[in-house]
Amino acid sequence: MTLKIGSLSLNSPVILAPMAGVTNVAFRTLCREQEIQRTGTVAGLYVCEMITARALVERNEKTLHMMSFAPEEDPRSVQLYTTDPKYTYEAAKMIVDENLADHIDMNFGCPVPKVTRRGGGSALPYKRRLYGNIVAAAVRATAGSDVPVTVKFRIGIDDEHHTHLDAGRIAVEEGAAAVTLHARTAADRYSGEANWNEITRLKEHLSDSGVPVLGNGDIFAAEDALRMMEQTGCDGVQVGRGCLGRPWLFAELSAALRGEEIPAEPTLGEVTRIVYRHAELLAAHDGEERACRDLRKHMAWYLRGFPVGGELRSNLTRVSSLAELREAMAPWADSESMAVDAEGSRGRQGSPSKVTLPDGWLDDPEDETVPVGADLMNSGG
Ligand SMILES: Cc1cc2nc3c(=O)[nH]c(=O)nc-3n(C[C@H](O)[C@H](O)[C@H](O)COP(=O)(O)O)c2cc1C
Repeated sequence: MTLKIGSLSLNSPVILAPMAGVTNVAFRTLCREQEIQRTGTVAGLYVCEMITARALVERNEKTLHMMSFAPEEDPRSVQLYTTDPKYTYEAAKMIVDENLADHIDMNFGCPVPKVTRRGGGSALPYKRRLYGNIVAAAVRATAGSDVPVTVKFRIGIDDEHHTHLDAGRIAVEEGAAAVTLHARTAADRYSGEANWNEITRLKEHLSDSGVPVLGNGDIFAAEDALRMMEQTGCDGVQVGRGCLGRPWLFAELSAALRGEEIPAEPTLGEVTRIVYRHAELLAAHDGEERACRDLRKHMAWYLRGFPVGGELRSNLTRVSSLAELREAMAPWADSESMAVDAEGSRGRQGSPSKVTLPDGWLDDPEDETVPVGADLMNSGG
C-alpha cells in the first residue's frame, strides 16, 4: 500500500503526527532508524514539530533551530502554525526559495486555550474565508515547486459547530495535496474516543476530488491502523501519542499495511539501547544537559509495562549526562523482559471543556480578522 501526496511518493501510508516538544530532529531520526532496522526501509513521512510562520519569516533563532533536519532526512516535512495569509505566503515562499523542506503541513487542530482564545489552531477553520485564504496563500507560494501543501484539522469547535467537511472541501478547492482529520472536536481536547465515523464522512465528502484523506486519532497498535483504514476508507494514517516511548511503532505499522510480518517488539535490554540512542540524538541537537532534561518526559513512556522498580525509574529522571544515563540503565542492559499491556492510550488525555474563543468569534464565519498576537502563538496540540 502506497500513498502519493503531491510529488511525494510514500511506500507506506504512515505518517508521524507533528507533536510540539516531541517530533524534533532527534525523535524523527530515531523513528526512521527503527523503521530501517526493523523493516529494511524508511517508507513513512515524519513531520517536524510545528513552526510558527511569522517567527520563521522573522528568522527567529530558536525557530530556525527547531526546523533542523538530519542530513539524510528525505522527505523533510514541516508543519506551520499560521493565522494569516501574509505570513503564510512569506513562510512558504522562504521554505521553497531556500530549500528548507520538501513538504508543508498546516496546523488547524491545536485546542490549547492560549491559541484558540486568539482564533488560532482549531478555532480558525470556523472562519471559512480566512481559512481558505491561508491555504491558498501557501499553495500560491509553492506553485511551480515540488513542495506539496497539506492541511490538518479537527471535526470542529464542538458538537454544535462542525467544520471538517467545509474545511476539507475548501482545502481541496484551494489546492491542498492532502488533508488530515484528527477525529475529535476542539472541545474534546484529547478525551474519550476519536470519532472515526467522521473520517468516513470526510472521505466520502471528498471522494470525487482524488485528494488523499488521512485519518488521525487513537492509533496505538498496528491493528488499529488496519482497522481505521478498513473502517473509514481513509488513504493513510497519522499517529501521534501511540509512538511516545515506542519509536519502533512505525516499523510495525508500515509492515502491517504492506501485508508483511510485523517485527517483534523490543526486549527491555533493547529498549535501554533505544533510549540511549534517543539521548545521543537529542544531545547532538541540544547538548547533553538539555537532552537529559528533555528525555525525562519520555522515560515513563519507554518503561511502561516493564518490570522496573520505582527507585530505578526515579534514578533515570535525575541523570544529567549520557554517561550517567548509561550507568543508570546498566542493570537492564541484558534483560529479555517484554512489556506487558504497553499498548493503549498514552500522552495527553484530559477531559472535554468549553473552547475559549475570541469575543464574537462565532457571529460571522466570513469575517477575516483575528485578534492581534494570534500569529505569534507557539504551543502544540
Ligand atoms: C504532546 C503533543 C503535542 C502535539 N503537538 C501538535 C502540533 O504541534 N501540531 C498538530 O497538528 N498536532 C499536535 N498534536 C496532536 C497530534 O498531532 C495528534 O493529532 C493527536 O495526538 C491525535 O492523534 P493520536 O491519537 O495518534 O495521538 C500534539 C499532540 C500531543 C500529544
